[in-house]
Amino acid sequence: MRTAIYPGSFDPITNGHLDVIERAAKLFDHVLVAVAHNSQKPVGLFTPDERVTFIEQATAHLDNVSATAFDGLLVRLAEQKNAAALVRGLRAVSDFEYEFQMALMNRQLNPDVETVFLTPREEYSYLSSRLVKEVARLDGDITKFVPAPVAAALTHRLT
Ligand code: PNS
Repeated sequence: MRTAIYPGSFDPITNGHLDVIERAAKLFDHVLVAVAHNSQKPVGLFTPDERVTFIEQATAHLDNVSATAFDGLLVRLAEQKNAAALVRGLRAVSDFEYEFQMALMNRQLNPDVETVFLTPREEYSYLSSRLVKEVARLDGDITKFVPAPVAAALTHRLT
């Protein structure tokens, strides 16, 4: 049973994240989407539980995907779940430096945990949770960027 962990803030999940999850679900037996939260930092727009619920709704069609929230080091979660890999999305070259740094730090912390990079569809290469929130806040149409329940929640919360 090969488990991969797809970690992130997911505040909230976008269609770009969903594309990465669908790709990972084809490669691994189980994909655990892990919502990072830091109890020392202010909560984002949505609580960790809300983000997990959005992910569960958006991945209901994938029976080998589940979601959880976690606090603390990602490699500790990977050890607890006996995960073979961490999955991260690479949208563009601009993502590379940050991702490379994290992958190498995680390797220092646990050399057995591999990081695997997946590339979402090109049409999602510009998409980020931050930009979607900004567009929603300014009353723009976000329906093609996020799953429907997320679009409804963003509109409700930000406008
Ligand atoms: O979607 P994001 O915000 O780019 O995700 C970053 C995330 C959550 C993957 C990263 O901050 C993380 O792994 N946080 C958990 C704490 C940890 O392990 N930090 C060391 C990472 S090298």
